[in-house]
Amino acid sequence: MDKLIVTGGCRLDGEIRISGAKNAALPIMAATLLADEPITVCNVPHLHDVTTTMELLGRMGVSLVVDEFLNIEVDTSTINNFYAPYELVKTMRASILVLGPLLTRFGEAHVSMPGGCAIGQRPVDIHLDGLKAMGADIQVENGYIIARADRLKGAHIVLETISVTATENLMMAATLADGETVIENAAQEPEVADVAKCLIAMGAKITGAGTSRIVVEGVSRLGGTRHRILPDRIETGTYLVAGAVTGGRVKARDTDPKLLEVVLQKLRDAGAKVECGEDWIEVDMEGRRPQAVNIHTAPYPALPTDMQAQFMVLNTIAEGSSTVTETVFENRFMHVQELLRLGANITLEGNTALVKGVESLQGAPVMATDLRASASLVLAGLVATGETHISRIYHIDRGYECIEEKLELLGGNVKRVPA
Ligand code: EPU
Repeated sequence: MDKLIVTGGCRLDGEIRISGAKNAALPIMAATLLADEPITVCNVPHLHDVTTTMELLGRMGVSLVVDEFLNIEVDTSTINNFYAPYELVKTMRASILVLGPLLTRFGEAHVSMPGGCAIGQRPVDIHLDGLKAMGADIQVENGYIIARADRLKGAHIVLETISVTATENLMMAATLADGETVIENAAQEPEVADVAKCLIAMGAKITGAGTSRIVVEGVSRLGGTRHRILPDRIETGTYLVAGAVTGGRVKARDTDPKLLEVVLQKLRDAGAKVECGEDWIEVDMEGRRPQAVNIHTAPYPALPTDMQAQFMVLNTIAEGSSTVTETVFENRFMHVQELLRLGANITLEGNTALVKGVESLQGAPVMATDLRASASLVLAGLVATGETHISRIYHIDRGYECIEEKLELLGGNVKRVPA
């Protein structure tokens, strides 16, 4: 297994292109299961989770063709089974996203229950309860969700907790259901709206996606389209924070500042100069050390949990003390133990981390535990003195396209070596 060696001490300075959003690409690839004509998905990020989704669809007999621009054409006319096996689902929880589309179009789905997860329990009860409300018969047998339905029926569903993938799963299921489905307390993440945009282009009747109340009027079939995935706001935010922690300047292109309002405000509060155009953002710390900023994660439009670990690093080396409160996942502080090994001063109290900024970090061997925690360790390595060796980096490849190449473009020193 490879590891990353980050040599710290440089100030990032440069421009990079932002990839398509992982968390829109995964549900949109699942959504292709709803269409009886080919769908072309563009701006798909080159990520391990995308490869896993392609393998998942491929094992169902779906035909996938990748062109020279890395657009993926998905044709479900060759599908021959409705099975998502444990060995794929355990590596990627987002596999649960095939459940709604398979059930609503083919009347059956066998999807492994996702197993444990480093960042919290992450049950799927909200997905299953919503599908049951639409008339599905759902049993869990031998670790598999076995779902059946003649035709799902529209329902009024109030999500108990705001869940991004449950909102997407139920919205997709509702597109081919009989009658109207209303999803209340829906996730408002831009990726949900992007999934809806693709579904509407396929012929679905959806209003309100991107708000907390989504209304879907079921139709009898969905057809082909070509959809371009929106930019990855978490990748964008990660590189902008990387610029800020090193006291440097980072310009992110092919992104959308409207997707990152709270993140950009926090960077301004930390003392960064932030400039934006239609599809670019530039953050410049002008050599200064960031000021500590309090962080409180919550569903969109609040500060994303997927940016918590990166801001923790910013606070670790900032001037002043701060609190970082995680409200979305109950165990998303795995990076704290690793940051302590680099010399951070962080105390955990329940779901809040009390961070006292230190002047410098020192390189050390550390272990990546989940995707965003891994990214935070790369950021910490960039500011630490000497070398930081990060093992278990397969987590990073699940969500960051060519991270070492992009950081190199910014002047960072990150090398991938066999462990
Ligand atoms: N929850 C339940 N029951 C459910 C579903 C969720 O209790 O049936 C709880 C979760 O345990 C959690 C909360 O609801 O405490 C919110 O979780 P959510 O379901 O929104 O998370 P998700 O849909 O599994 C997506 C992203 C995550 C991101 C979260 C929160 C995808 C593929 N994944 O996960 O992305 O952190 O929303 O914004 O969209 C990442 O990219 O690193 C990542 C983990």
